Amino acid sequence: MIKPEAVAAGNMGKILNMIIDNGYKVIALKYTRLSRQEAGSFYAVHKERPFYGELVDYMASGPIVAAILEKDNAVLGFRDLIGATDPAQAAEGTIRKRFAESKAKNAVHGSDSDENAAIEGAFFFSGREQF
Ligand code: CMP
Repeated sequence: MIKPEAVAAGNMGKILNMIIDNGYKVIALKYTRLSRQEAGSFYAVHKERPFYGELVDYMASGPIVAAILEKDNAVLGFRDLIGATDPAQAAEGTIRKRFAESKAKNAVHGSDSDENAAIEGAFFFSGREQF
């Protein structure tokens, strides 16, 4: 996902270009906005965390870009490309180093396992929206 503050800052195209230039094939792509209920459900795994309410409000605050990406070792490789959750810790050349505002408003989300990638992909896309 490209998160609301990165979309609002006009960085959607630059971030998608970085992803495609790094060899990811776009299997599905959508410009949409999450309701608070949908954002809460997407991030349900973080329900007990102190930042959950803030995270849900933020993720529902404006449009996002959702994508399914394909590449060998995509989950691990994408985490390297986006960088650490906190942009202050993110390596040079990563998407978060370049575009994230803060640990909360960190520009992009990437799935943390193949299993969660399948769940998160199905959250946004029907089978006929995947190519
Ligand atoms: P993401 O990779 O999408 O997974 C969970 C999100 O919660 C994370 O990126 C951040 O947007 C947010 N997050 C993680 N840690 C914190 C924190 N300490 N304070 C606020 N938001 C956080």
